[in-house]
Amino acid sequence: MQDLAGPEAGLWRRIERSFVEVCRRYGLEEVRTPVIEYRDLFCHSLGESTEVVQKEMYSFPDAAGRQLALRPEGTAGVLRYVAESRPATEDLRLFYYGPMFRRERPQAGRRRQFHQLGVELICAADPVADAECVALQVDTLRAAGLSNFVLRINTRGDIGDMNRVTEGLRQELRPFLSELCPDCRRRYETNVLRILDCKRDGCRRIVGQLPDLSTYMSGASRSYIEQVYTVLGRLGIAFHVEPRLVRGLDYYVHTIWEVTHPGLGAQDAVSGGGRYVVQMGGRRIEGVGFAVGMERLVIALQREGSGMPERTEIQVWLAAVGEEARAANLQLAGQLRAAGIACSVPLRFQSLKAQMRAAAKSGAKLALIRGDEELQRGTIRLRELDSGREREVPGGRILETVREVLAPEAGTLDNAD
Ligand code: HAM
Repeated sequence: MQDLAGPEAGLWRRIERSFVEVCRRYGLEEVRTPVIEYRDLFCHSLGESTEVVQKEMYSFPDAAGRQLALRPEGTAGVLRYVAESRPATEDLRLFYYGPMFRRERPQAGRRRQFHQLGVELICAADPVADAECVALQVDTLRAAGLSNFVLRINTRGDIGDMNRVTEGLRQELRPFLSELCPDCRRRYETNVLRILDCKRDGCRRIVGQLPDLSTYMSGASRSYIEQVYTVLGRLGIAFHVEPRLVRGLDYYVHTIWEVTHPGLGAQDAVSGGGRYVVQMGGRRIEGVGFAVGMERLVIALQREGSGMPERTEIQVWLAAVGEEARAANLQLAGQLRAAGIACSVPLRFQSLKAQMRAAAKSGAKLALIRGDEELQRGTIRLRELDSGREREVPGGRILETVREVLAPEAGTLDNAD
């Protein structure tokens, strides 16, 4: 887990804003769900035999002995909210943002607390809705400033296809059983699809020879994904069909995708998503969504040279000589802030020299300086910090003058008006 502060936090804030803006354009509403849920929620929706549930969840009992868990992803909590609070007839467009927790071995781009930007469109299976979600996925990454990413898509088929896919894969893999790693030999019994996710070279070689998953699926499922591809083609969205992509969570059906970035190394998925079905609160909830990993997005942006840290910008520094002027400066700061100008005051009593050093360090464009004499005269000294140029301005004209110095062009335009 990591602290985030200063200019890097500024970069995160910029990415969050760009995400919220894209969501606004797609008509999404925000949802914030708790970080802690009942453990069963994740077992039930992500799947008991998934890696996330088996190995990676932080779960613990509360004082009453109920099993809780820190959320390892956002979809399950959002679907619980939908089941509890929204009518079944409504299509919903939701987005969320926040920390998720998985007990994985930390490495570059893999953290135990990480952050997802997520979207869930709650709606019945429909290739056009899936394409809309993929378009939103692509726009989210582009708006953050990322360009060099690769979108890989596949189908999991309908729930009805699942038995045929599982049986087909078992038959193909049976002759190679002794060559699979011990984990995959276990997966062969418990959840054969997981073998396609194995990162070990030996298993990958065997998986590489398997037929496309769609060969086991019904004509209807194959036609569904073909329609998704057609709509994406019409939208001009570039993608690769990845016939052995399965994704690590059990709730998926039909369209699934992953977005990778060449700058990411071993953990190269910057985002993942797909269509899903879960039974929750006596209801069948269907939708399509995705989640972008913030930590990985930031690394990918930095590799592309566009993840520039962003400093908080102070425009005006208020310096004072004497306690009375300090107090008066707070009032002036209030007026400047109300006019949208970012300004700072020293938080403790300091010599003027020390205050001016702090002003220079803050990056402010100008300093406003007051002592007893200025207070008496009702004036303020305005110093432009780059040139050191200084003048005395009547108190009543200070806001106007500060505005002119900060944005001279805007000032000229105002005058022309
Ligand atoms: P996921 O593929 O498990 O999908 O996670 C989505 C993204 O979260 C990954 O592509 C990755 O960028 C990031 N991520 C996952 N684990 C870590 C980690 N330990 N450290 C850093 N980043 C990580 C889901 O979570 C689904 N809920 C996505 C979804 C939404 N599907 C439908 N709706």
